Formats: sequence, C-alpha cells, structure tokens
Amino acid sequence: MTKRYAVILAAGQGTRMKSKLYKVLHPVVGKPMVQHVIDHLNAVNLDKTITVVGFGAEKVKEEIGAQTEFVIQEEQLGTAHAVLQAKDLLKDAEGTTIVACGDTPLITGETFRKLVEHHEQSGASATILTADTPDPAGYGRVIRNAEQQVERIVEHKDASEEELLVNEINTGTYCFNNAHLFEALQKVSNDNVQGEYYLPDVIEIMKDDNKLVTAYLTSDFEETLGVNNRVALSEAERIMKKRINEKHMRNGVSILDPEQTYIGPDVVIEQDVTIHPGTTIQGKTTIESDAVVGPNSELINAHIGQNTVVKQSVVHDSKIGSETSVGPFAHIRPDSIVGNHTKVGNFVELKKATLGDESKVSHLSYIGDAEIGKNVNVGCGTITVNYDGQNKHLTKIADNAFVGCNSNLIAPVTIGEGAYVAAGSTINKDVPDNALSIARARQTNKENYAERLKGNKGKKD
Ligand code: UD1
Ligand code: CA
Repeated sequence: MTKRYAVILAAGQGTRMKSKLYKVLHPVVGKPMVQHVIDHLNAVNLDKTITVVGFGAEKVKEEIGAQTEFVIQEEQLGTAHAVLQAKDLLKDAEGTTIVACGDTPLITGETFRKLVEHHEQSGASATILTADTPDPAGYGRVIRNAEQQVERIVEHKDASEEELLVNEINTGTYCFNNAHLFEALQKVSNDNVQGEYYLPDVIEIMKDDNKLVTAYLTSDFEETLGVNNRVALSEAERIMKKRINEKHMRNGVSILDPEQTYIGPDVVIEQDVTIHPGTTIQGKTTIESDAVVGPNSELINAHIGQNTVVKQSVVHDSKIGSETSVGPFAHIRPDSIVGNHTKVGNFVELKKATLGDESKVSHLSYIGDAEIGKNVNVGCGTITVNYDGQNKHLTKIADNAFVGCNSNLIAPVTIGEGAYVAAGSTINKDVPDNALSIARARQTNKENYAERLKGNKGKKD
C-alpha cells in the first residue's frame, strides 16, 4: 500500500487575529484549531505527521506534544517555504503527502479520506481540495483552462479582475506525490504581491513539467473555511457547534436550543438525555441516558449518571452517579465522586470529596477533602474546615451518620458510623460510632429579662 504522510502548516503568527495567542491555538468548541486538524487527519492512515511551527512557538509544541513530529520555520516566508522545512524528514520518502493548514479546523476526516483516495486512484502528482463558494474573497482562486483542467492557483491579492470573479477556491489542502512535491518546491519563487513563497505555485510548476494535476471539489464549502480573523473564528465555532449538536440530536438527544448549547467534539451523550439552554459541555464528558442538564450549566470532563438532573451548576473533572439531583447553583470541583441516589443541593460546593450512595448535602455547604459514606445527611450550612493555612486535612463521615445544621467539622476529623452531630456544633475531635456529639455553648434562658433591659435602657436616656 502507498505510504502516507501529512504536513500541517502552523507557523504563521496570524497577524489578522490580533492576538498574543498563536493563530492555530485559538480554540473552536473548546479545542485548539490545530488539534481538530490532527484529529480529522486520523481518518487517513498516516505513516508520519509533521507540524511546521514558528520559531519560539513552544506553546504549539506543548499543546500537540508527541502526537506529531515538528519542524521549525524560523521566518514565515510563505506556505511553500513552510513545507520545505519538512524536507529533511520526507525527502527520501515515497508515497502520498497531504498538506493541510492548521487554520482550517472544519475539514472532516471523511473529506481527507476521500481526497486521498481520489488522488491515489487518479495517479496525479497533485490533487487540490477545492470548493465553490458564493463569497471567495481572500482565498486563492482555482484557474481552469477551456477543457476545465486545473492550470494554476492565483492568490486573491495577485488576481486580475476577471480571476477575482472565479468562485472555485483553493482550500489550502492538497495531496501530492511526495517526490514530485519536493522537486517542484525548489522552483517556487517569491515574485508576487506579498513577496512570499506560495505553495499553490507548485501546481503551475508541475503543469509546466507535464505532470498530472487534478482537483477534488468538495460539495460542502462550509467545511473549508480558513480562519484568518476573529469573525471567521466565530463562524467556525457556529458551524462546528451546529455539526456537533445535530449529531447528538440525530442520536436521540434533546437539545432545546442548539444555538445556546456548546458541546465539545469529544463529549459522549447517550439517548434520551435532555439539554437545556445556556449549557457548555467540554472535554471528555460522558452523560448517561435520561439525564437532564441545564439550563446554564458547565460540565468539563464530567461523568453524569443515568437519570440524574444537573441544574444551573458547574461540574469539573468529577463523577456524578445515577438518579441524583445536583443544583440549582452547585459547584462540584475536581476529583469529586458523587454516588447514586444522592442530592447535592443549592449553594453547595464540593472539592475532592466523595459522597456515598443515598447521601444528601442539600443546602449551603462547603465539603472539601472529605470522604462521606452512604446514607449520610449533611445538614444545611455544614462546613468541612479543611485548611489550616498550611495544609489541607481530611474529614471522614461514616455511613448513616447525621450532621446537624451549621456545623463546623475541623479536619482531620472522623464522624463515626450512625453518629449524630448536634446542630451548631464545632467538632474538632473524632465522634465514635453511634454517639451524639454536642459541641456548642449551653443555652440559658433568663426569665423576664427583657423587662429589665427595657428598664435599664429607660434610665440611661
Ligand atoms: C492560503 C492559500 C490560499 C488558500 C487559503 C485557504 C497560500 C499562498 N495561499 O492563504 O490559496 O485559499 O490558504 O485557507 O498558500 N503558514 C506557515 N508559514 C508561512 C505562512 C503560512 O506555516 O510562512 C501557515 C499558517 O500558519 C496557516 C497556513 O500556513 O496555517 C496558511 O497560511 P495563511 O497565511 O493563513 O494563508 P492564506 O492567506 O489563508
Ligand atoms: Ca488562512
């Protein structure tokens, strides 16, 4: 089988984005643009992937990590110059080389696969992925001859008035015969309006060399959007969001207002889940069937169990069991595990806390660094006092315990199985199993004292 390689162009600063952040790191549905490109290229079996990054683009390398190899383009002299930087890694390779841009996050795996298949079947030296668009401004135009064969690509800035009327654009994605590509790249000059070495110029060079050049015209222009500024970025966000939401809806998820629902590409949602407006679901979140999420909730790397309801709440890096109620206005911070048939009610914050099955923390509590067993009732306003200014300490509450309202549990401390803590207690010693602990000042009632107070007050005046 033909060997396949990919070169991802990601060295451009992206001046038109007007940003400190490298262009290809700008997120679309919560994931950097270049990561979308890498993910979609996975649909093609690649023997080697190389990302071209700019000098000092450590952030891009950090983000991509070991997923691809890297070459550095110290000066951004154009897209042809960028591909040339991969020469040392590819010059002796035989096979197909896909060149993709790090700023076209919407091109799907399927399109990449079809492009490569078309290229390999035709035996061409180059195949350009093109699209017909009603608004080609800014893109390179595909110039065809009278026989409708591709002749060359002309950049918007270099195009004549007649050429500007062409609606077929270069998407910036190509397949090449690897050897022919590097041969043609040697001949690219920078004799153009921008003074750059244009990769699209290899098309004309190959044609002049009597090589076969073809185009693969994709029917979906939306896919090929190149993100050069923040207007296009929001457009990419809108298209990707729509694509993802529609996929989930077709799989049996109810999304009440898809315009107001932001779901990342790696989120898994089972059938009969309902998502209310104003909800953001990102990272490796999974939601089991019949759960209801939102309105106005944020889930990041969360697991939500079957038939659980999460209202107006935030869940990060935590696991929520089934048949559970979260919120409104709960904040579940990383490393929390909430069991089945539980309740985490309004204005409750959990951090690195486990809550066993059938347990409840219904109102106004902070539970941090805690292990709470099964069937525990944590009364309103309970606080785990976990931080002494230096270190964090653990609070343990065993099965079937009952903590009265407005209690402070000064960690490290353990409340035994089946034990009771009286409301308003400040507990700084372990409570044995089945005990009742009262740690508050005794109440004294002074009969008729009000009269005296009123009397004293009268005298003073
Ligand atoms: C490019 C194409 C244009 C096409 C459009 C599709 C050229 C000359 N033009 O234009 O025909 O219609 O994409 O979106 O190729 N890059 C480098 N090093 C450089 C320059 C660019 O790595 O020296 C990278 C950028 O980071 C970007 C990609 O190459 O990811 C494309 O560069 P960009 O400047 O955005 O090209 P366009 O003007 O959009
Ligand atoms: Ca671009």
